[in-house]
Amino acid sequence: MPATIVIGAQWGDEGKGRVADWLAAESDVVARYAGGDNAGHTVYVGSTVFKLHLLPSGILRERAVCLLGNGTVINPVNMLREIEDVRATGVEITPERLLISTRAHIITPAHIAQDAASEKERGADKIGTTLRGIGPAYTDKTNRSGLRAGQMADPEAFADALYKHTSAANVRLIRDGHEPIDPQKSAENYIDAAYKLKPYLCDTSAYLNGRLREGARILCEGAQGTMLDLDHGDYPFVTSSSPTVGGALTGLGIGAKWVDRVVGVGKAFSTRVGSGPFPTEVEGELATRLRGTGENFWDEFGTTTGRPRRCGWLDIIMLKYSVDVNGFTELVLTKLDVLSGLNALTIGVGYEIDGTLLYAMPMTTADQARVKPVYEQLPGWDEPLGHARTWSDLPEAARAYIDRIAELLEIPINTVSVGPERDQLVQR
Ligand code: GDP
Ligand code: IMO
Ligand code: MG
Repeated sequence: MPATIVIGAQWGDEGKGRVADWLAAESDVVARYAGGDNAGHTVYVGSTVFKLHLLPSGILRERAVCLLGNGTVINPVNMLREIEDVRATGVEITPERLLISTRAHIITPAHIAQDAASEKERGADKIGTTLRGIGPAYTDKTNRSGLRAGQMADPEAFADALYKHTSAANVRLIRDGHEPIDPQKSAENYIDAAYKLKPYLCDTSAYLNGRLREGARILCEGAQGTMLDLDHGDYPFVTSSSPTVGGALTGLGIGAKWVDRVVGVGKAFSTRVGSGPFPTEVEGELATRLRGTGENFWDEFGTTTGRPRRCGWLDIIMLKYSVDVNGFTELVLTKLDVLSGLNALTIGVGYEIDGTLLYAMPMTTADQARVKPVYEQLPGWDEPLGHARTWSDLPEAARAYIDRIAELLEIPINTVSVGPERDQLVQR
């Protein structure tokens, strides 16, 4: 099994971190291919809750080499802080274990200021970004004016480039009535980070291809989710990278011939943080019931921003679209335990728009925001699932829920997760 890709099937926060952590146990290399520290991947080991933003989940598995591919965007100051925080828990992080692509792009303080400025300008139509500077960093990348991680190999020249970049960004910030950034201070913070990160820089595509030829097993860990994809998500309420399957190949520089497993990660219900269409969204008590109150770390509050997540029922039409866009070979269903105690479960199986039934994604985001879901009801179950370890430990109604989803999506669901702990997984 040379390369496995793990992809969020919904709007992010499906539990990719916990699934990647599980698959990382069998992997030689774990590679992030897209996004930046907008991601928040929670992995629960022993009694420690790790909230990883940039570090691949494989960092918590001793034998895995971890890598940030060319498709990622890196805030060097936040990257260092995360390395130090994780290191403080006793995890070994060395340039032998962590590789940063020279082709990855750098998120600067000016990008963060531009992210905030553009959200402010959008007003009520804001995207609800994580304010990590993601959009502006990818904009500079496609505009061919970005800074790349490889420039950190010469920290002095990197600081000069950053100074120029900040001064140019300030012209636009001031013109549009926003606070400018201190270019000198930014350069000083970043020069220090560059000295410290320089040993981690690597031609990660060459490294991966070498390892693949040797027979190593590579796990490509996605961030965000299919509906947040710049092309395939509900634009403009998306992120600025490609979390979907093609993004894994482009974002790592490996060929399709190596990939034999594409694992979609889907939550047993739906959540979304930030603006945009959400046909099966629920409100009131039911939303609170699905979200949790925040007393458990797995309750539905953003890992990166702490924002309460919008909650709703499973949306089969959206998931079918996700299956098509990514070619999932299987789906792992997470957080099934959260549904215990609901006397009936609802899944969206179609959409109705202007009196017409629709069984596919509408062509526009505006239509996606207008559809009314067509629901199907399934019986619930009362038993808590946290102790289930075999398929037969699951109540019949839980098995029927999983089987109905697999039947509608026409792909196998052979793994479900029933809690955040490493062993809270059930395989068929
Ligand atoms: P990611 O961004 O896709 O990695 O997901 P997040 O880490 O942002 O959010 C998923 C949350 O659900 C985390 O707090 C996980 O620890 C938690 N989680 C994952 N799988 C399960 C599960 O099966 N049951 C419960 N209760 N929590 C889970
Ligand atoms: P993980 O990897 C959930 C959302 C933001 C916003 C939109 C654009 O933890 O699943 P951005 O800061 O990327 O420009 O924000 O995308 N978003 C996420 N939502 N999980 C994530 O990552 C997300 N990363 C970005 O809330 O709606
Ligand atoms: Mg998350």
